[in-house]
Amino acid sequence: MANSYFDIPEPIRIKAIEAGAPKLQLSITLQAAPEKAALGYPGKSAGDVLFNGAAGTLLVSLGEAPKMITDTFRVAGGSVGRWLVQNAAPSAEISVNNVNGFGIPNALAAFCEGLLLGVFKFERHKKASNSIEPFTVSVRAQNGLDGVETVVRRATILARAVNLARDWGHEPANVINPVTLAERAVALSERYGLKCTILDEKKLEEIGAGAILSVGKGSHQTPPRIIVLEYAGKNAAADAQPVVLVGKGLTFDSGGYSMKDTANMQGMKYDKCGAMAVLAAIAAAAELGVSTPIVAIIGAAENMVSSYAYRPDDLITSLAGKTIEIISTDAEGRLVLADCLTYAQRKYSARAVIDLATLTGGVVVALGRLRAGILSNNTALSEQLAAAGERTHERLWPLPLDEEYFQLLKSDDGDMKNSATVREAHPIVGGIFLRQFVEDTVPWAHLDIAGLADTPKDSAYCPRGATGFGVRLLIDYLENL
Ligand code: BES
Ligand code: ZN
Ligand code: ZN
Repeated sequence: MANSYFDIPEPIRIKAIEAGAPKLQLSITLQAAPEKAALGYPGKSAGDVLFNGAAGTLLVSLGEAPKMITDTFRVAGGSVGRWLVQNAAPSAEISVNNVNGFGIPNALAAFCEGLLLGVFKFERHKKASNSIEPFTVSVRAQNGLDGVETVVRRATILARAVNLARDWGHEPANVINPVTLAERAVALSERYGLKCTILDEKKLEEIGAGAILSVGKGSHQTPPRIIVLEYAGKNAAADAQPVVLVGKGLTFDSGGYSMKDTANMQGMKYDKCGAMAVLAAIAAAAELGVSTPIVAIIGAAENMVSSYAYRPDDLITSLAGKTIEIISTDAEGRLVLADCLTYAQRKYSARAVIDLATLTGGVVVALGRLRAGILSNNTALSEQLAAAGERTHERLWPLPLDEEYFQLLKSDDGDMKNSATVREAHPIVGGIFLRQFVEDTVPWAHLDIAGLADTPKDSAYCPRGATGFGVRLLIDYLENL
């Protein structure tokens, strides 16, 4: 492959220009839709555009004023970005005023994110297409360049991180497996000045990480890895406690011997998207100079069948020493995460542990593709994350974690089963399983992102494929600590 895996096309760049800079060829204006359809206005839906070639203007609808939220500006940005690329527009400029009370920099930040996120494409494996020249959208600063430059820089870093998570998330399992993912993590750590430790299968054996090893046994050519990245925090005190981010990195989930059928196996390359979010988030946090120290721990494995693979009925011993009776080899994510959570708590005195995982199909049944489930042992943490999700429009919804649910996982032969034998409360049972590996004193949250990690269809600022869900949410949470 000619491209390095860090070369993600950027069809649009954004820069700030002075209020008095010469006028550019195309000027973009955001405006709320009028109450009735009116001549000279774009449509009623946010993102509708109206181009006037003679005047050199592109009017962009923000939809009906009462319905506007910050995300409306992302939607508008996504729509403008795609219009500019499709129409190979020359130089374009925008000045974001205090639109309907949303104000700069909030609205501008969201607009810039949308602009850069909406034009992402996964075309790595296509024959060289007529690649368009990247062009620049200039943001005209009304009150000094500094403020706008800061907003543009932050939006660019965030969008690049999300697009990295999308690009890597989209790669199939013959390109990204636990071993090549570890190589990428090493490269990422060098690029962003992070400390990186890889626990390979020998090391995992040595420490007794029997849960992740069991999941990875069937893929003996691409054995599992625990990948650890550390960011020290900008000007952080020596004793500052890190936030530990844990990501499910199943580079492919066939289900193992509890095998998925054709329809359900399709798309299981996206079972690593929790890990991609965590990787991209720590890279962006380092680039932004977040003050909190951060650790990212990724459990990378491939769930395959072979004569080496683990089976239903197996009794395995996790890193924590707890034994697990395997009911379904398809409930593998929680096994991988269990060892990562144990490793996290042994190694670090975390102020919070947050895991992101495409853990259950059940969460998609419950919440669909609009909100991810959040399960937590700590209300404050859960609320902080949910608030971050509202701001970034990566929305969460709480599910309960009552200890009684553990009844469903009681095992006759081991300390617990990895899955219930009934089809009840799958996302909660997944959370309860993980909770067995978390100390009560450690604030912990589990985000079940199975419904949000990938999308079957294009939307305003998110094309079909891996979404990069969670990256902006995590950064927002970390910045607001
Ligand atoms: N990776 C899947 C969950 C998943 C399903 C993600 C659909 C995205 C879309 C996970 O490993 C899995 O197979 N979970 C089982 C759990 C069950 C066996 C308790 C499931 O959801 O059926
Ligand atoms: Zn599975
Ligand atoms: Zn899985």
